[in-house]
Formats: sequence, structure tokens, C-alpha cells
Amino acid sequence: MAKACLYTNKALEYFKHPKHAGEIKNPDAVATAGNPRCGDVLKFFLKIKNNKIVDIRFKTYGCLAAIASSEALARMAKGKTLSQALKIKDSDIVKHLGGLPTIKFHCSVLGSTVLKKAIESYKKTKTK
Ligand code: FES
Repeated sequence: MAKACLYTNKALEYFKHPKHAGEIKNPDAVATAGNPRCGDVLKFFLKIKNNKIVDIRFKTYGCLAAIASSEALARMAKGKTLSQALKIKDSDIVKHLGGLPTIKFHCSVLGSTVLKKAIESYKKTKTK
């Protein structure tokens, strides 16, 4: 008998075929963060026009949940204004994926942390 998978089909699909993996040349904002619990690292690249995220890419060196969460966040943030994107919570990412194994919730935190860091650094450069 086959074992039930801990991940949803959506999480598996995002992990296997992430549409936003990669880099943006000349991004308007970049940020990196690591997860101290496991050593995984995530980097987000943003292209911003008229206060909106018009493109977003990521490089994630991490587990299935971290990559699926990065893809989910990229899809959720693209097209949003900066203030709308700042409101995306870890729980929204988990909900978008249709759930994550409880022991993997911490993996979704990395994405929202890096996105906030990228937006804040962009705002600082614009106010100088
Ligand atoms: S185990 Fe490191 S982010 Fe998931």
C-alpha cells in the first residue's frame, strides 16, 4: 500500500516546477536571509514600478517546503503594491499551499522575512 504524502499536490508542483526560480538582472530590491534552525538560505529579487511588484524571482537553497513556500509567495506578491505585499503572513503562504506538515511551518517563515527585508531596503533607498 502506498504511503500518503505529507505535502499537498500544489506544494509538490511548486517544488518540482517553480515558475519564479532564478534571478532578475538589475533588480530594484534584493534581500537574503537564512534559517538558523537548518542553515537554508533564500534570496529574493524584485522589480518594482509605480510602487508595485511587477516581477519577482528567488533562489532558495533549502528543503521542499522552503522552495514551495518561495514559489507560493512569489505568486502571491507579484502584481501587489508594496504595502499589500508587506501584509502577506506566513499563515497565508501555508494556506495558499493547502497546508504544510506542522514540523515544516518554520520553512514558510523564511520567505515572508526576506520579502519584507527587500521591500524595507527599497523604501530606504527611495527616501534618501
Ligand atoms: S528545513 Fe530548512 S527551510 Fe525547511
